[in-house]
Amino acid sequence: MTVPGPDVTTDRTSGARPGPQALRPHAEDAFAEELAALAAADDRPRPERWRLSPWAVATYLLGGTLPDGTVITPKYVGPRRIVEVAVSTLATDRALLLLGVPGTAKTWVSEHLAAAVSGDSTLLVQGTAGTPEEAIRYGWDYARLLAHGPSREALVPSPVMRAMARGMTARVEELTRIPADVQDTLITVLSEKTLPIPELGEEVQAVRGFNLIATANDRDRGVNELSSALRRRFNTVVLPLPATPEAEVDIVTRRVSQIGRSLDLPAAPDGIEEIRRVVTVFRELREGVTEDGRTKLKSPSGTLSTAEAISVVTGGLALAAHFGDGVLRASDVAAGILGAVVRDPAADQVVWQEYLEAVVREREGWKDFYRACREVAA
Ligand SMILES: Nc1ncnc2c1ncn2[C@@H]1O[C@H](COP(=O)(O)OP(=O)(O)OP(=O)(O)O)[C@@H](O)[C@H]1O
Ligand SMILES: [Mg+2]
Repeated sequence: MTVPGPDVTTDRTSGARPGPQALRPHAEDAFAEELAALAAADDRPRPERWRLSPWAVATYLLGGTLPDGTVITPKYVGPRRIVEVAVSTLATDRALLLLGVPGTAKTWVSEHLAAAVSGDSTLLVQGTAGTPEEAIRYGWDYARLLAHGPSREALVPSPVMRAMARGMTARVEELTRIPADVQDTLITVLSEKTLPIPELGEEVQAVRGFNLIATANDRDRGVNELSSALRRRFNTVVLPLPATPEAEVDIVTRRVSQIGRSLDLPAAPDGIEEIRRVVTVFRELREGVTEDGRTKLKSPSGTLSTAEAISVVTGGLALAAHFGDGVLRASDVAAGILGAVVRDPAADQVVWQEYLEAVVREREGWKDFYRACREVAA
């Protein structure tokens, strides 16, 4: 059957695109030109209903230069193999689970994969402790249900059901935050590739091209453990933290300049030194040791992820643009760093003070940063 019921979201298959004013355009809109260039250059076989071949999807994520000279910007910076495994999983009958600590680009990779494979990253279920079964299966338009009884017209399909019917990629964010019994709704979807609608005596069968990408946070483990029955339906890909400081600086610089452009902030390269400093501080505190390996440090309670480094630098750029001379300086990032490090006012404050006095104060060329940090702490 075709999926019935009113579709309250934008119908992306009609070709209608949101205006350029969207604060955060979807990946398939933000990178529409790259996707079109890849599709044009892509002469490799495409799995049924895929917009691109697996090779082109991987190139979209990792970046590269096409024969006609079009530059594809890297979206994910990390081991190529991870992306290849993720993409090829989507071409099988197994679903993909992206696992990792906070801020390792799970959501980001999931969105870009869906955009590249299906041209639509919006078939999304956001997992929370309150996610009901209807969010994964279907709900009802109660006015129609009461007036005419259960019918196709009264059915409100979930994003998963719509993806099944159209042979597209569905996304489930934060799978392990969803209560276990609701998670289990996915078992039939993933193993039988069907969603029964007992009220109508019908079912929606997944069309070829359907698959599902779920993300889950390592730190949430124990909130709602993934049942082993469900886990077996997924290929798990663990996204690591950036391996080297250079890789992390690269990620932060790229993302900050993208975000900055959409907010009309000054270009980040002006502040590359400051970005390096933010990344160094985050990595040292996260790993509990200084970069030279000489001094052991206590780690604060916050995660100090790459994602947070990106926010600190973006915040700093806004300060520099609106209240400074447009160049990112130590005083623009100090408050942001303090906010990210000191989550627990008592314990983290001590950790930060120790780090400031034992490491920052002594470090060559970091006097301005030390002073700026002392000032915001006062
Ligand atoms: N390896 C990486 N390559 C490219 N971007 C990255 C990388 N790591 C982190 N980022 C950036 O970090 C930001 C946050 O990532 P994202 O929200 O996807 O993290 P997450 O793993 O879903 O975190 P959470 O567990 O908190 O949901 C994104 O803007 C993304 O661009
Ligand atoms: Mg996420």
